[in-house]
Amino acid sequence: MLNIVLFGPPGAGKGTQSERLISRYNLVHLSTGDIFRANIKGETELGKLAKSYIDKGQLVPDSVTIDLLRSEVLKHDNPKGFIFDGFPRTQKQAGALDEFLSSINSSISMMLSLDVEEDELKTRLMKRAEVSGRADDADPKIIENRIAVYKNETAPVKSYYDNQNKLIGIDGMGSVNDITDRLYASIDAN
Ligand code: AP5
Ligand code: MG
Repeated sequence: MLNIVLFGPPGAGKGTQSERLISRYNLVHLSTGDIFRANIKGETELGKLAKSYIDKGQLVPDSVTIDLLRSEVLKHDNPKGFIFDGFPRTQKQAGALDEFLSSINSSISMMLSLDVEEDELKTRLMKRAEVSGRADDADPKIIENRIAVYKNETAPVKSYYDNQNKLIGIDGMGSVNDITDRLYASIDAN
């Protein structure tokens, strides 16, 4: 299986690039953020819980997110692989993902980490706020908080994969097409 962690701060382009990677490599796109938003829309219990964190720009608790991820992976029969978008976001999630994948005789192939300057992240998210309807895009203070949470809690996950020699940094600045080409080149070289 080709299992890719597509990593990066809020607005880095994880969702945008995932769409392209899944069609080229026949992978399943698993975005924990998208799953939480679908649950918020459907007013499920999980959605209510997730909303109380997401709207403030905080992380949903690990236990909830890890259980969700496991059950989503198991929904697919004989997948060619997964793009994990927005997961893992803590060292605990990263450890749990490794443990779970090894229990189904699989593993993470690589982490592709999109590097984007902070001003560009804010510009992209403020622009998306006009159309996305995402409560966590609507307020610049929440965007700041999401970026701060990324720096404090999520960025350290890079070293987890670096220690396994699986971290590949990708320049996430420039046009969507140029970034896609960089991702293809890195995947095809590995
Ligand atoms: P999540 O949904 O994962 O959001 P995020 O990480 O904040 O990232 P975004 O989805 O905002 O950005 P993206 O990197 O996907 O970029 P996109 O392609 O959309 O998480 C939301 C919340 O859910 C979290 O805050 C947390 O509360 C919770 N959550 C989720 N997962 C969790 C977990 N594992 N543990 C705990 N809590 C969790 O691009 C952004 C915009 O820029 C778009 O408008 C796009 O069109 C544009 N764009 C993309 N590329 C370019 C480019 N090259 N040039 C110009 N514009 C571009
Ligand atoms: Mg996204």
